[in-house]
Amino acid sequence: MKGIILAGGSGTRLSPSTDSINKHLLAVFDKPMIYYPLSVLMLGGIKEIMIISTPEDKPRFEGLLGDGQSLGITLEYREQSNPNGIPEALTLSEDFIGNDDVTLMLGDNIFYGQGFTTLFRNAIKNHKHATVFGYRVKDASRFGVVEFDHNQKVISLEEKPEQPRSDFAVTGLYIYDHKAVKMAKKLKPSARGELEITDLNREYLKIGQLDVELLGRGFAWMDAGTHESLFEASEFVKITQQRQGFKLACLEEIAFYLGYISRNTIYKKGKTMEKNDYGKYLMEIAEREHSQQYWESIDRNPILGLAANE
Ligand code: G1P
Repeated sequence: MKGIILAGGSGTRLSPSTDSINKHLLAVFDKPMIYYPLSVLMLGGIKEIMIISTPEDKPRFEGLLGDGQSLGITLEYREQSNPNGIPEALTLSEDFIGNDDVTLMLGDNIFYGQGFTTLFRNAIKNHKHATVFGYRVKDASRFGVVEFDHNQKVISLEEKPEQPRSDFAVTGLYIYDHKAVKMAKKLKPSARGELEITDLNREYLKIGQLDVELLGRGFAWMDAGTHESLFEASEFVKITQQRQGFKLACLEEIAFYLGYISRNTIYKKGKTMEKNDYGKYLMEIAEREHSQQYWESIDRNPILGLAANE
């Protein structure tokens, strides 16, 4: 399974904050927005990830995350010259995807909830052709909307309908088989001049190959694409972190608990930021983990949001 994060776009909805910087590099509380989708793909067990951004911003992402080695993963970067729409992420990555399946994630989407990792891993394991994730929202007309019957069989899909047929938004996380690339190539731009991911999903629906996984009320799904939603997402992260003392989307912590990087690596990374909370957090993890007794006494799974038997 390959992973793609789309972090391009013009970010006009966040102007002037995004006039000279990519939206996905803005902070959601204490870390750049891109950390959140990257954490999701890592938790899903995906190790080969492509980040797509604008020609101006690509070097900034490379500067931030490098080749992924420090996180025990492989990161590649590619340019999207114009904001031509989400499906273009697939065609731009054709050689990278090859004959593999691919999970595409939008760079401004944030997922949080106990059991999310298990749900996502199971969706990856069980997926056949295309799987989207539905989430109940109050304002479905802002999103792609999925309608399904009582057997959770998808009936219709619409992009930002004025009168939504259901309250379920399609989140910005999509699992596809490799034929998605071929199908994306055949799409035509919509009225707003972009290729629409909803049109690709509709093609899968037409051939009876679209599944929907529902995220229940215990999950938080947010997109951080407007001033309001960015602020709300920051508040959510701050409050959640403050309460339990666990950080959300801390990439080094995830890499460490997945066994990708050593205690020494996480300590050293923490040391480079020791004056702030993020750095202290990394150093604390390393120090705690120093004790063999601690290792034996903890189960890493709840920390990663995994079921006990994974
Ligand atoms: C895009 C998709 C939409 C999806 C949303 C999720 O919308 O087109 O179907 O529900 O992402 O974040 P956009 O953010 O480009 O308006």
